[in-house]
Amino acid sequence: MKKITKITLGLMVLASTTFAVTNGATLYKKCAGCHGINAEKKALGKSQVIKGWEETKVIAALKGYKDGTYGSVMKGVMKGQVSSLNEEQIASLAKHISTLK
Ligand code: HEC
Repeated sequence: MKKITKITLGLMVLASTTFAVTNGATLYKKCAGCHGINAEKKALGKSQVIKGWEETKVIAALKGYKDGTYGSVMKGVMKGQVSSLNEEQIASLAKHISTLK
């Protein structure tokens, strides 16, 4: 029963963010403070440099932060960043990041 409630809540959250921003470059603005405008920095001196990462690698990392299956010592910071993002937003962010040089 509890699991069903969780899934239902999850779907409601997804539905409520359907009309949110989905442009990768716009979404990335809130990431740039830590990761650098071209994703060239080690965020807070701790993360890997994500510039040039494959889309699929970024998606895997962001989804992992969201569900707690990915990350290192500072994963809590990233969980806060990605928890409100839907699938579409994660995909467009990944696409944008993969184009950064
Ligand atoms: C407050 C600073 C901060 C912001 C803002 C931030 N990040 Fe991060 N990010 C970090 C830190 C710190 C890590 C390393 C976390 C860990 O220990 O796993 C990280 C890790 C990552 C990683 C995986 C790199 C690795 O080291 O494995 C990706 C991908 C990523 N961030 C993408 C994003 C995206 C996309 C956004 C915007 C939605 C974002 N970050 C916003 C601080 C930030």
